Amino acid sequence: MTKVISNIKQFTKLRKSKSLTDKSIGLVPTMGALHEGHLSIVKRSIKENDITIVTIFVNPTQFNSKEDLLKYPQNLKGDLFKLKKLKVDFILVPAFNEIYPDNYAYVLTENELSKILCGKYRPGHFDGVLTVVMKLLNIVKPTHAYFGEKDYQQLKLIKAMVDTFFIDTKIIAHPIVRNKNGLALSSRNERLSLEQQVLAAELHKTLSSGLSITKIKSTLKQKGFVVEYVEKFDNRILSGVYLNKVRLIDNVKI
Ligand code: PAJ
Repeated sequence: MTKVISNIKQFTKLRKSKSLTDKSIGLVPTMGALHEGHLSIVKRSIKENDITIVTIFVNPTQFNSKEDLLKYPQNLKGDLFKLKKLKVDFILVPAFNEIYPDNYAYVLTENELSKILCGKYRPGHFDGVLTVVMKLLNIVKPTHAYFGEKDYQQLKLIKAMVDTFFIDTKIIAHPIVRNKNGLALSSRNERLSLEQQVLAAELHKTLSSGLSITKIKSTLKQKGFVVEYVEKFDNRILSGVYLNKVRLIDNVKI
């Protein structure tokens, strides 16, 4: 039976219980509004671990725009239903005060990779991400933690953070899950009309076109995207764009 827990002390106590010691424990951190991308990661963790723990926490410190936070889709009831159906062992849904007893006075900052690509346009974003992920890793103490390649820069930063701070968790990368048109699934897609979702699929198509970076940018602009950045990084092309004021990110291997 799935256990839903909002109290961290209660979870910490459970974590020390016999039923969880010497087990492989997979952690899947999320901000909810779960789609098939999230669920594919959850299914993988269930397959690869004795116990799977999903966290749902819309982390305010990683939103650098109030509007984006306010408009971020939430569907806790639906999320719990989907996760219970998959027979996830634990769902953690902590409140802000539980995660931030210090009201975000302590912050984990990375000073290189977090300042480029998405980080250049979202100041403070990766501080918020790294701080919350560090907290979740310390609370759950998972043997494995899963992150999607859709957020490629986030994945790299978390991997390096875990190495840097000698955290005893293996970080596992999960490939990007796309819809039939190639659009990378994202909770923010809910804010696009069906027509806009069809246009949004052009992002992946254009990134995969083999065109030069300059040509990719101009093609995207022509199609109606507001381009924040398109850059080569790690043998990939990474991008951040806006469609109808909704921020979309995607990346493809070169
Ligand atoms: P969220 O956007 O909810 O994503 C949770 C996890 O699912 C992340 O690791 C993300 O990369 C992965 N994911 C989302 N869409 C995906 C897709 N289409 N294919 C593959 N993986 C996908 O990322 C966050 O939340 C937060 O920053 C978090 C790590 C939870 C910290 O607050």
